[in-house]
Amino acid sequence: MATAWIAQPALAEGGKLTVHVDQAGVKIDPMFYGLMTEEINHSYDGGLYAELIQNRILEDDYPQPRRGRNQPATAPVTPTTHPSTPPHWTVLSEGGGSGTISIDANDPVNAGALKKSLKLDIESAGGRVGAVNDGYWGIPVKPNTEYQASFYAKASGDFHGPLTVDIESNEGGKVLASGTIADVGPVWKKYSVVLKTGDIAASAENRFVISATSKGQVWLNLVSLFPPTYKNRANGNRIDLMEKLAAMKPGFLRFPGGNYLEGNSIAERFAWKDTIGALEDRPGHMSPWGYRSSDGLGLLEYFEWCEDLKMQPVLAVFAGYTLRGEKVSGEQLKPFVQEAMDEIEYVVGDQTTKWGQERAKDGHPEPFKLTYVEIGNEDNLERNPPFTYGDRFTQLFDAIRAKYPDLKLISTLPSNDRRNPLPRTPDVIDDHFYFRSLQDVLGRTHRYDDYDRSKPKIFVGEWATRVGNPTPNMSAALGDAAWLTGLERNADVVIMNSYAPLLVHVGRGAMQWPTDLIGYDAASSFGSPSYYVEKMFSENVGNEAMPVQVTPGDAAVPIEPTTRPTEKIFAVANKIDASGDIVLKVVNTLPDAQTMQIDLQGAGDVKKDGTAWVLSGGPSDVNTIDEPEKVTPKQVEIHDAAATFAHEFPGYSVSVVRLKTK
Ligand code: AHR
Repeated sequence: MATAWIAQPALAEGGKLTVHVDQAGVKIDPMFYGLMTEEINHSYDGGLYAELIQNRILEDDYPQPRRGRNQPATAPVTPTTHPSTPPHWTVLSEGGGSGTISIDANDPVNAGALKKSLKLDIESAGGRVGAVNDGYWGIPVKPNTEYQASFYAKASGDFHGPLTVDIESNEGGKVLASGTIADVGPVWKKYSVVLKTGDIAASAENRFVISATSKGQVWLNLVSLFPPTYKNRANGNRIDLMEKLAAMKPGFLRFPGGNYLEGNSIAERFAWKDTIGALEDRPGHMSPWGYRSSDGLGLLEYFEWCEDLKMQPVLAVFAGYTLRGEKVSGEQLKPFVQEAMDEIEYVVGDQTTKWGQERAKDGHPEPFKLTYVEIGNEDNLERNPPFTYGDRFTQLFDAIRAKYPDLKLISTLPSNDRRNPLPRTPDVIDDHFYFRSLQDVLGRTHRYDDYDRSKPKIFVGEWATRVGNPTPNMSAALGDAAWLTGLERNADVVIMNSYAPLLVHVGRGAMQWPTDLIGYDAASSFGSPSYYVEKMFSENVGNEAMPVQVTPGDAAVPIEPTTRPTEKIFAVANKIDASGDIVLKVVNTLPDAQTMQIDLQGAGDVKKDGTAWVLSGGPSDVNTIDEPEKVTPKQVEIHDAAATFAHEFPGYSVSVVRLKTK
């Protein structure tokens, strides 16, 4: 039955929040807040991975239509029109010069990954002829900054350099940074040059050009351009995005998926061995999200990302089931069990082991710390009988447990799946939730209140309120915050959680999945209102969570019987033992401010000075590239706190109130 609510202006006695501070709460795991990531929405290529050249090894195809889960591999794919030039490359002819570009599969740099090259055929000299890359929706530049350009090249005997390498504006071809390679010989060789900008204005409507004025042919491959990266890592990550992630204080990183782990087919799974070593040996692969991944951000780089942000890795291993329903079990799974065992050895093995030695060769002699391994992704979605996850999970579980008894193993069969229990009891279960609306999420905040505590712990590895495109709006943020109060309240069983997806390039055609936590284009990035909710909650997470009894005031009166959620104010409290601070996290989903009487029972001496961070806005308010800070938390100083005091929570707001007892 439908519900109607009358929202009234706040009353002096608007309601009450009661916390029994003197009673034990539930312990919150230090890994409670974390990140979930995969190559989706150009999260890495064109996103976190700082490479600026798109289609650098000439293997990309024009975008393919995506197929849904369990659609067989034989389903027809709408043919795409292929222009004669490779995606993201065009030819530039100026001042009387003329030429062409094409893909050449003869005489590759190597037969493994660099099988094709870009042939620049300069037919008439005199003017400038070049190969142009348009980047990931632009090539961003900043003033007084160095860019590392590199590529493999060879030339025909009649070609006499130099090659000019530059970043120039799309409009008018204004050169923003330039370098020269004196000459190029007939044999493949790697060339590098630093391009330095001067006192220019920052911009992204630019292109990268390798050009010459001599007649002849030049072949190119692995064409790369890197800006400065986070912590100056070679082959590293984009600084603004890493800083946004660091600000979330994440405890863990779940990778490499998601559907990206599974792939559309077994051939297109995350085959980790193809993602390590020199870039020259990484062929890349087709991701299930309709575009090719360069694998420049490969297995080792995920772990370096964890190191940089001090996160624990949650490594998901391929478990023989793909997005389109291809699956292997029984004897046929054995090679994939071995693949997973090799992968774990690459991560934790010392240098006496085969794969530990390989990791050392790749530049990381020290083994990484690994506690959690997830077996597959969303295996409950296996539709065609027989259901094989029981067998697949068991094979992987037994092999990993026998060799690495301390690793905690995660199942992807949700906690409420009727096919539970599995033949082996997982240490943790990964549950996923995508809420369709604010009402939907508000009705599910008690999901774990009645969870059987004797059952495995829960990792909510993917969740989001999907309202807002490309990024969540304020209404979604209210839902997300309410959901988090429910997860924190149940932190004795919910040990980790991560929003998904994390990242989206907002450029035309770059996104496959709205709603995403952080948006960006080539030049800048912004956090959504939900990003700020996560940041506020994670920055102020305690070691213990306590339920808050919410006694609503007169501000919202149901006038009809209801099947919809009746709660409008959601809250949880945290204790931070180290500082003695008490934190209240309060979500007011009503349009009007609510003055609540806060009763901290047994809190002792609550100091009068405290701080609150308040996120509020209209339900449809969003942050964007043009208005990145429309909805951001405001800091408010409190000077009248006590064990019992009144505090106002604005309409449509999320507040984190931090109070001192020492
Ligand atoms: O987060 C997007 C997708 O949603 C993930 O890849 C998959 O695990 C889930 O279905």
